Amino acid sequence: MINFERDKDITSFTTFGIPVKAAIFAEYANERELLAISRSPEWLENDVLHIGGGSNLLFLHDFDGLILHSGIRGIKRYEKDDDTVFVIAGAAEPWCEFVDWCVAQGLAGLENLAGIPGEVGASAVQNVGAYGVEAGELIHSVECFDTHTRRTVTLSREECRFGYRDSMFKREGCNRYYVLRVSFKLHPSDVASNTTYGPLHRLEETLGHIPSPAEVLAEVKRIRDSKLPDPALIGSAGSFFKNPVIGKFHFNELSSILAEEGLEIPHYPQPDGNVKLAAGWMIEQAGLKGHSIGGAQVYPKQCLVITNRGDASASDVARLADFVADSVQSRFGIRLEREVNYIDTSFTFRMLGSGTSKGVPEIGCKCQVCTSSDARDKRMRCSALITTAGMNILIDPSPDFRQQALEAGIRSLDAILITHSHFDHIGGLEDLRPLIGEHDVPVFVREDVADDLRRRLYYLFRDDRPLYPGAAPLDLHVISDAPFTIGPLTVEPINVLHGKKPIFGYRIGEFAYITDAKRIEEEEREKLHDLRLLVVNALRDRDHFAHFTVAEALELIAEVKPEHAVLTHFNHDIGLHKDISLRLPENVEPGYDGLQITL
Ligand code: EPU
Repeated sequence: MINFERDKDITSFTTFGIPVKAAIFAEYANERELLAISRSPEWLENDVLHIGGGSNLLFLHDFDGLILHSGIRGIKRYEKDDDTVFVIAGAAEPWCEFVDWCVAQGLAGLENLAGIPGEVGASAVQNVGAYGVEAGELIHSVECFDTHTRRTVTLSREECRFGYRDSMFKREGCNRYYVLRVSFKLHPSDVASNTTYGPLHRLEETLGHIPSPAEVLAEVKRIRDSKLPDPALIGSAGSFFKNPVIGKFHFNELSSILAEEGLEIPHYPQPDGNVKLAAGWMIEQAGLKGHSIGGAQVYPKQCLVITNRGDASASDVARLADFVADSVQSRFGIRLEREVNYIDTSFTFRMLGSGTSKGVPEIGCKCQVCTSSDARDKRMRCSALITTAGMNILIDPSPDFRQQALEAGIRSLDAILITHSHFDHIGGLEDLRPLIGEHDVPVFVREDVADDLRRRLYYLFRDDRPLYPGAAPLDLHVISDAPFTIGPLTVEPINVLHGKKPIFGYRIGEFAYITDAKRIEEEEREKLHDLRLLVVNALRDRDHFAHFTVAEALELIAEVKPEHAVLTHFNHDIGLHKDISLRLPENVEPGYDGLQITL
């Protein structure tokens, strides 16, 4: 019998120590209980979030859904041969105690990862790393519950696709796989495995011999104690940002600018030729050591960490993090990427542009709409921004995107959805550069759109690397009409016809965005039921071969019955904005540039 706890205080399941509650909470002791949970109404009817030790999470609000936590404990060792020992640990084992246990067993490999808060399960999700070692290097396989098939699967290290603070569990496997147990491949040894990190190398010199795993363990704990807040006393989530990795060309340019100021940035050349930079140093150089907003503070001994001074709210932490990222960007031209996951179930839609391909006013036109002084009659080309789960997702970078981004104050993008490759929906791709930062941003496209983009913007989307140094690192993901994920979100493509051309609309939860539709087959219209917000194109009243008229858009709305609908993609024939709403049903409003709706 599963114990679903209601209105549960889950503060102690996070290391920030900021008060937070979950509508429902359940902990399972084994796979059987997890299977039962996955068939329960609590799981089927709610947003579900699986957490570990909460050492990398910031809840922006109370969680209005089901929080799951593993209670699977236990550590077992299996000798393969004299040189290899497999250690399998339950996901809920505290990481720190697990590493101590391995070292006490005379096993080498994990000692550099001593003292890290969190649980064993998260070590695989997050690929925890410190002092020259990453957990992924030692993970042999990960046993998971696959929520799609409700079966237990074992994924090899290769299948986990570990990267710097990254794995497929954070990307396409997010919300699909729950880690049950992790198997590590270690070896019995009196000497530590890796002393390449400066202070550990110095320890070797001081001792006059290669230190034992126990000596490294003790030294790592000493270094951590001197730099990082004690999780038992001060709330934090460890490093708040990732260390940025930049191209060699960019690095040379940055170092020569800094050299003129007599500065040298701590940096670590990577095997692929790129260079990793110390974000903590950049934050300190931006003058933010000890800087605080409300109860949140940049930790003075290690600026990469944001702490809760006791009374911080999640919004204090988020505001401070934005301030840090903005300040570093102004000082060094590099946008820091968060390591901490924001848990945010709120959903905001912002209409960046509501106009058809020529925009309104049309160049040279003197009609009453094109000469109107009402700001809502000025319609840039169609584009939208979704903000949820701590991410900014852009739908269609229109040719007016630069202006739209400036007006909306957009500072970063996490993913881009493209409906089709007509110029008015992709013309802004080359202007995304300042918002992309150093990390590859996924651009989700149909196959025909990918082909078109590779042809039209060859310098951005060619396969052979490196790209021209100034090119934005956009990463094309070709999608079919099957649902796909962006972090914790599931996105469902909707097939619509733009004249005769098949293009995509998108549904995310209770929101859907359809533009440039002329026809939607019945099967696809089925995907548009139970929406809280539908945004749909309505060019004008007169018929058009490729776009819905207002009447056609209203027909769709009447059929699928969203709670609320917004019309978009207007041309100047639509009339003055102030007049449009007068002839629309109560739950339908005409969109305008800058319209923002929070669900
Ligand atoms: N530095 C400063 N000022 C600061 C912080 C750092 O000048 O406020 C300089 C240091 O002097 C050093 C360089 O930046 O020259 C790097 O600092 P450090 O060795 O402390 O490591 P880090 O790059 O800031 C990363 C991990 C830590 C991990 C350490 C040690 C990330 C995001 N963080 O920090 O991981 O413990 O290396 O390997 O990669 C965590 O993930 O929560 C975490 C603490």
